[in-house]
This record gives sequence, structure tokens and C-alpha cells, in this order.
Amino acid sequence: MKSTYRFRLNGRPAALESERDATLLWALRTQLGLTSAKYGCGEGLCGACVVIVDGRAVRSCTTGVAAIAGKDVLTVEGLAAGGRLHPLQQAFIEHGALQCGYCTPGMLLSAYALLRRNAAPTREQIVAHLDGNLCRCGAHQRIVAAVESAARQLEGRA
Ligand code: FES
Ligand code: FES
Repeated sequence: MKSTYRFRLNGRPAALESERDATLLWALRTQLGLTSAKYGCGEGLCGACVVIVDGRAVRSCTTGVAAIAGKDVLTVEGLAAGGRLHPLQQAFIEHGALQCGYCTPGMLLSAYALLRRNAAPTREQIVAHLDGNLCRCGAHQRIVAAVESAARQLEGRA
């Protein structure tokens, strides 16, 4: 049986009419047409599907839509503001921190969650935090460099 779930999506009120066991990833991609979050493993292991829920990085492939009722959801579609890319997006471009780009939305939002709670992470902290986000293209070095650069930018240290 379907139920209606109300929440905020990228700063705007949103509603989903879904089966209780539908995943957030499926609902975002199929019902709402937001395809930034990717299906990788479907088992919470690769990080390709990460979105932000109430400020925390969440694996949308293993999160039911019922769990987001009343919450704030952020996807990469909502990361840029005022016509400007988020400093993380800009840094990923400047550092060439992607090849195929499949892992990029999850990497961006995992890094976003890290910088929300630790504005000046060490390289080791960035590496540890992104350990659960897999990049099959092997772009990890450039991804870490981009996150370091964005942190400096956000803190006004760049
Ligand atoms: S698709 Fe969700 S963690 Fe891999
Ligand atoms: S850029 Fe291809 S999986 Fe990371």
C-alpha cells in the first residue's frame, strides 16, 4: 500500500507517494527525476548513492522513503547556489578529480558532510572519511586533493 511522505528536497517542500519499502535512491531517480545519486552496489557498500539527510551522509540505496519523512534531503542537484558551483564542485573540476564520474556525486556529498562537521580536516581524516566511497577509476588522490582545496576555500584560507 502506498503512503505519502512529505519532506524538504534541495530547500523546497516535496512529497512522494510510495510503497513503504521503496528506497530513497529509487524514489529520487525514478519518481522525482533526480539522477545524480547513482546505483552502484545496492547494498550500502560503495557510496555511489550517498545523499545528505539532515546534514548527514546517508546511503540512499539502503534508506527507505519512510525514513526521510519530515527531514531535509540534499542531492547534488541542490549543491550549487545562486548560479555558482559549490566550492567542492569547483575544486573537483580544477583538480580533475574524476574520470567516468560515476562515483562523483557520492564523493561530493560525503565530503560535504565531512566539511560540515570538520571545517579543516587533515589529509588523513579526509582519506579515512572517504574510505567507504569507492572509485573504480582510481581518482582517489585527486579527489582528496580537491577536498583539501575546497576546505581551504570555504575557510577563506585559499
Ligand atoms: S549503491 Fe548505495 S552504497 Fe552502493
Ligand atoms: S571517476 Fe569513475 S568511479 Fe570514480
